[in-house]
Amino acid sequence: MSQFPSDKPVLVTCGLPYANGMAHVGHLRTYIPADIFVRSLKKMGQEVTFVCGSDTHGTPIVFNAEELNTTPKELIKIYHKHFDETFKKVGVKFDAFGTTDDPTNHNRTTDIVNKLIENGYVFPKTIEIAYCSSCDRFLPDRYVKGVCPHCKKEARGDECDQGCGKHLEPGELESPTCTTCGGPAEYRKQEHFFFKLSEFKDFLIEHLEKLGGTTNARNYALGWIKQELTDWCITRNLEWGVKFPGHDDLVVYVWVDAPIGYIAFTEEWAEANNESWEKFWKDDGRIVHFIGGDIIYHHCIFWPAMLKGAGYSQPWAVVASGMVKIEDKTFSKSRGYVVWVGEDYLDHGFHPDLLRYYLASYTSHTKELNFSWKVFQDKINTELVGVFGNFLYRTLLFTFKNFKEIPEGEIKKETLDEIAKTIESTNEAMENYEFKKYADTAMALASYGNTYFQSNEPWKLVKEDKDACGEVIANCIQIAKALCLLFEPILPEKMEDAWEQIGMETDVHTAGYAEGLVPVVSGTALAKPSILFEKIEDEKTEEMEAIATGRVKAAMEKESGTGKKKEIKEMKELITFDDFSKLDLRVGTIVNAEKIKKSKKLLRLEVDLGEENLRQVVAGIALTHDPEDVKGKQVIVLVNLEPAKLCGVESHGMVLAGVDDEGNAILLQPEKEADAGTNIG
Ligand code: MSP
Ligand code: ZN
Repeated sequence: MSQFPSDKPVLVTCGLPYANGMAHVGHLRTYIPADIFVRSLKKMGQEVTFVCGSDTHGTPIVFNAEELNTTPKELIKIYHKHFDETFKKVGVKFDAFGTTDDPTNHNRTTDIVNKLIENGYVFPKTIEIAYCSSCDRFLPDRYVKGVCPHCKKEARGDECDQGCGKHLEPGELESPTCTTCGGPAEYRKQEHFFFKLSEFKDFLIEHLEKLGGTTNARNYALGWIKQELTDWCITRNLEWGVKFPGHDDLVVYVWVDAPIGYIAFTEEWAEANNESWEKFWKDDGRIVHFIGGDIIYHHCIFWPAMLKGAGYSQPWAVVASGMVKIEDKTFSKSRGYVVWVGEDYLDHGFHPDLLRYYLASYTSHTKELNFSWKVFQDKINTELVGVFGNFLYRTLLFTFKNFKEIPEGEIKKETLDEIAKTIESTNEAMENYEFKKYADTAMALASYGNTYFQSNEPWKLVKEDKDACGEVIANCIQIAKALCLLFEPILPEKMEDAWEQIGMETDVHTAGYAEGLVPVVSGTALAKPSILFEKIEDEKTEEMEAIATGRVKAAMEKESGTGKKKEIKEMKELITFDDFSKLDLRVGTIVNAEKIKKSKKLLRLEVDLGEENLRQVVAGIALTHDPEDVKGKQVIVLVNLEPAKLCGVESHGMVLAGVDDEGNAILLQPEKEADAGTNIG
């Protein structure tokens, strides 16, 4: 029995992209299957609304804007436009695509937070918040990093993104440091507001047990709840975001107003189409969330509890995909493990439908997907070109050469049965969010078509019995018609083309699956067919692989460079001021410099220290400094250091320099030109 009886409207949403960077192939694993699902449900006759929008709040956006010397408002405009355009290019067609900074979302969020307050689910609590005294501010979320209390890996303020993946509450991070200045942060007390998540435990268990969608979402969430459910801090010290009611210095945490965007975008759609948003959010319409496996916690725990607490309907299903990886690393735009949709795919001339096919059919939806150009090439060449494209082209070319129109001929019961059987299993696969099974089942009908064509040998029949040949071809075109409908959700643009090639004048996007069983009309004129799918050559794959490998290599280098933690050096024992005042430090000007024959590291310097004679000082700076370059430079010299012989040369003092981890010397200099001999202290 269908899970989607057509009397209940369906609302499909996608995890909102952060308007903070460009679209990558990982993102598309949320959007493309959702789009396929929506198109497919429509083909089953279901009423579906599909909404999404940009997630515009939160610290990473404020942080990036600060770094780029712009405002969050300007920054999100750029990326909102980018995502909107990218979705259109790859055929993901939302009924509404707003932003969480839209007034609709500000209003809806304020309303929901007020409802939660009214209903007694929000309480104030004084907690410790990371604070940077040199930047003079509190450090919400991404502004602070440190050690995850659960797994001890390096983590950022609100999420252990490289370790256990857990959500972190303010104050939980150990050894916090400020990400702006790199200095140590301290914990300071401040009043914040909390959502009583712990009160929703029983509700959530019940909710999750009946939640539809993929089992990974349900099971992970149930596992987490059974461990513990702590109350959730929902305010942050930021200016950018939705103001917390009654407190102008606080905004709500981004994970409060982001999912509320789902409601706001439904409202925007309803407003524009004279429709009702309440049929989903206040009534029993069915809400289906498509997300990646990284945000199950937010969608299966925070979100339903918030909705329940504020008196809204709850999600009916959560469909969570496995993460897209590259060389086994989860995509990370900040770290560089990524395949960009524009720069690494569309800009190289690949058709978006090929990527849609690849993402849908590579592996089951809940499994991880390691992006591979080789697999991409292989799937396109053997399946789209070798099976489906081959069937369409040989059928249509044969028709064109021998008939110029759809020939007369009965559409056989076996043909219709095969089509009906296929539609039944693809529907079932789709209702279970099994996109690979859907694609494979549809592809099996194309194989059936090839076998049917091959075994009936129309190229022989045409000479012996043209009527019999016509009937075979009419049956092939019937199969082609069904294939166009079955593949439209996955390959929308290509199927527009194919639909026209088989002489259909209706819209392949609005035609239902049931049309696949309506016999094709003999006598319909057919034009010369064109090839739908072209083989991807090995050289192209190699070129693309090289780009991907290059990116991963660069990311790894970057990681080993910046990821390397500086050792924290222990401070030497304390000295008194008297100890310090024993040092006689003076400004000196290097007058002469030369290499010392027996040494690679040492330079012999003659330094003017305002004394009668120049002083000879040996300095270990030869690896980093040429004698010619240091002549004329002012330096700081410890002049009362006991004389010593270095490589046979006497040194009467020490030139002060910093030494970095690689042993490079960095000379200390006065801030401005000073008289030689100026005292330091
Ligand atoms: N803004 C949040 C979602 C808020 S929903 C109320 C977010 N944004 S995101 O830009 O990081 O991701 C957008 C969508 O893409 C999310 O559904 C996320 O799960 C998905 N993916 C992002 N990277 C992904 C992979 N590497 N693999 C699979 N899906 C991934 O999360
Ligand atoms: Zn700081």
